[in-house]
Amino acid sequence: MTRAGSFSSADVAQEAKIIKRKPVLELKTPDELKKMRRAGKAVAAALKELEAAAVPGVSTAELDRLAASVLEKHGALPAFLGYCGYPAVLCVSINQEVVHGIPDKKRKLHEGDIVSFDMGSVIDGYCGDSAITVPVGKVSKEAAELLQVTRQSLEAAIAAVKPGGFLGDISSAVQTFVEARGMSVVRDFVGHGIGRHLHEEPPVPNYGRPGTGVKLSPGLTIAIEPMVNLGGYDVKVLDNGWTVETADGSLSAHFEHTVAVTEKGCEVLTLL
Ligand code: MF3
Ligand code: CO
Repeated sequence: MTRAGSFSSADVAQEAKIIKRKPVLELKTPDELKKMRRAGKAVAAALKELEAAAVPGVSTAELDRLAASVLEKHGALPAFLGYCGYPAVLCVSINQEVVHGIPDKKRKLHEGDIVSFDMGSVIDGYCGDSAITVPVGKVSKEAAELLQVTRQSLEAAIAAVKPGGFLGDISSAVQTFVEARGMSVVRDFVGHGIGRHLHEEPPVPNYGRPGTGVKLSPGLTIAIEPMVNLGGYDVKVLDNGWTVETADGSLSAHFEHTVAVTEKGCEVLTLL
């Protein structure tokens, strides 16, 4: 803390301590995990219906309403609506859009598109967050390969989650899997801790070195979310302040699961 015009050495020391403090990780109890599992199930149910509804001609606003109605059926609240002013339940990102596409009644899906659905829910004060990317009708070979590589990179990341391991093991699993296949991982957006808040410590990048970063302990809950581009990893944010696109216009895909570190390994919380 500083006072205008007069820095005391005690103030500076205090400031340095705050900056250097290790991030606080909120490890969850079995009871808290139960709530997160319920929130995760609601998101999984909505994503399943969205996948079936991703056909040519449907508007992204209609898909947002579908997402809202499935959450409501499950007694869940939307976690994204109103978060930092986000105006919808669902993020719908098409083709070169990476994440945070805003539903719009004038925006429709077309044959050959790839579309990502990302959504979060809250039940009893605990969050779930998950995303999938799906083809609309028949898509190009490159697009299909991008979807497969991104999905598999999330699986590789989940396989790297175990107590006593490190956050960097997860990051590195995504990066090495993706880059070995000639694609790139987005740097400017990352996964995150999750629980009573949609975004908690620690950040979960999709790039990094094994054996580095936060140690993984049972009860740690994180959202792992690889964002993979066919071209370069640079992205830009559109003028609406939300939609993120690839800088080079190449296709992008996104998959996400909320997972818990357990005594034995890992539990995916966003499953049906
Ligand atoms: N899954 C994304 C995330 O975890 C979506 C959040 S965007 C917002 O960061 F809509 F909630 F703002
Ligand atoms: Co997330």
